[in-house]
Amino acid sequence: MIDLGNATPFAQGGNRKCFIHPQDSSKCIKVIDQESYSNRLKNLPWHKKIRGKMSFNDNHEEAKGYQQKSLKNIDQSSWKHIAKYFGFIETNMGEGLVTELIKNEGEIAGTLEDYLFKFGLTEEIKKSIHVFEKWLLDNLILTKNIIPHNLVIKKDSNELVIKIIDGIGSKAFIPLPEYFNFFAKRYVKRRIELMWSRINWDLSGRKGGWK
Ligand SMILES: Nc1ncnc2c1ncn2[C@@H]1O[C@H](COP(=O)(O)OP(=O)(O)OP(=O)(O)O)[C@@H](O)[C@H]1O
Ligand SMILES: [Mg+2]
Repeated sequence: MIDLGNATPFAQGGNRKCFIHPQDSSKCIKVIDQESYSNRLKNLPWHKKIRGKMSFNDNHEEAKGYQQKSLKNIDQSSWKHIAKYFGFIETNMGEGLVTELIKNEGEIAGTLEDYLFKFGLTEEIKKSIHVFEKWLLDNLILTKNIIPHNLVIKKDSNELVIKIIDGIGSKAFIPLPEYFNFFAKRYVKRRIELMWSRINWDLSGRKGGWK
């Protein structure tokens, strides 16, 4: 059992708290923020309630996403654009999901959202996003909607590498993309289209809806 008692999360999203693994600083541990989780459950419309509690637990959804066929089929060296996955551990804050902590020279990597707000859509980042897109499509990696704050940027010797750190797995209610490449391709293309809508929405000062 890992005691996260005195640790301060290095980040907190809408649903989880992220800690540096106290025994291995190359990994992070994500625990569900109980308050936002129970509020989320309380406010669900009835037709979503019937799906079951677990489908709203982001750690479980993510763990399921990591079990997808496409990630089993590609070798570890091709995991270039996704944080590695190390399973669950017990913590004093409930079960924790352990993944690779993406860093640049010891500093936790910044998100694509931070980058876009700071530098805009530079030629360099555009190229990196295109490489990421190609990887998604070539390998048919299933993701939820791809949001710039769920992508971080790893600085490699001569390129910026986009890595997905949240939102892996399929959001399709009927799981056709999990079984058929034809549907997977269509599904991934749509996620890429929506990723660009979201990027442009962020860049335009978030006016109106993004979808
Ligand atoms: N593996 C990682 N490497 C580097 N930074 C990370 C990693 N995982 C999370 N982060 C940082 O922590 C933030 C929150 O993490 P995460 O997106 O997993 O939480 P969440 O609560 O599921 O988010 P959301 O608000 O999208 O539901 C991210 O936006 C990112 O800045
Ligand atoms: Mg997130």
